[in-house]
Amino acid sequence: MDVHDKFLLAVKPVSVVNEIKVPLYIKQEDVNEIVQSVQLKPGDIFISTFAKAGTTWTQQIVKLIRNGGIADTVKINESIPWLEANGQFKVDVSSLLEPKAFKSHMPYNAMPYGKPHESQFKYIYVARNPKDVAVSFYFHYLRFQVKPGANLEWCVFFENFVSGKTVFGDFFDHVLSWWHHKEDDNILFLFYEDMKKDLKAAVSRVARFIEVDVSDVQISEIAAMTTFDSMKNDNTANYSWDLLQLNPGSTPFMRKGEVGDWKNHLTKEQSTQIDKICKERLQDTGLVFDFGCC
Ligand code: PPS
Repeated sequence: MDVHDKFLLAVKPVSVVNEIKVPLYIKQEDVNEIVQSVQLKPGDIFISTFAKAGTTWTQQIVKLIRNGGIADTVKINESIPWLEANGQFKVDVSSLLEPKAFKSHMPYNAMPYGKPHESQFKYIYVARNPKDVAVSFYFHYLRFQVKPGANLEWCVFFENFVSGKTVFGDFFDHVLSWWHHKEDDNILFLFYEDMKKDLKAAVSRVARFIEVDVSDVQISEIAAMTTFDSMKNDNTANYSWDLLQLNPGSTPFMRKGEVGDWKNHLTKEQSTQIDKICKERLQDTGLVFDFGCC
């Protein structure tokens, strides 16, 4: 991939899949091709998220549950590939462990393989509060700097985020599209902030949902292996191998892993702006984000 493509991906949507803006390297024809050529089975698993909401964390939890808590040497994006991007990354999905598991960043109505409630697949959706997502997404974007000084300023990125111009569409549309289906039998709706508070409980819920028996001891072991510090030091999970390290001055993929880091980055006005959007968009939905203590 041309480095300029990498540079463009975070905020300049240059490709569209199922009517959703996506990074340049994701192509509708590649998504169509995989859907036509890879027959999924009932029970196959999707981990679906808006970007930077806890995808990799949940992938690692699912992977370790399926491995009985035993680490292996396979990188997370090969054990649980990103479905829409497989035209680019080309993981051999025919050799994936069954049931197959994929990552996706699509909103509910744009999921490849159709609408989840019409399928027999299982979907784990992870939501994270929009202030921390915006910050994490910005640092992710900075990893792609290819021309010094060419990056968007934080305030410009923030405006793109709150006006739904980043890839994967409007954050609130995305989360709400899944939230409205959170009671469906084949959907497990998780919050990043709850996972931080009680990781063992999250591991246990995921294991039950994907119908894998794990002992209490295994749950504790998997939780210990999926803390932020463990994953930061895990070369199968931390993306240290990835081109993401394009800009040597940028932060590592496993950056901070905290709830409330936004307080170090959002101005008072920006924070109020998101509070206002939450009030407008989330009223009567029952969806409440945890922004960390004040
Ligand atoms: S991506 O690129 O969309 O797939 O990114 P994603 O994996 O969804 O999100 C990356 C952020 O998740 C943090 N992370 C974790 N937080 C807590 N615990 C664990 N184990 C963990 N693993 C990943 C990662 O650090 C990114 O958040 P920030 O706030 O940038 O640190």
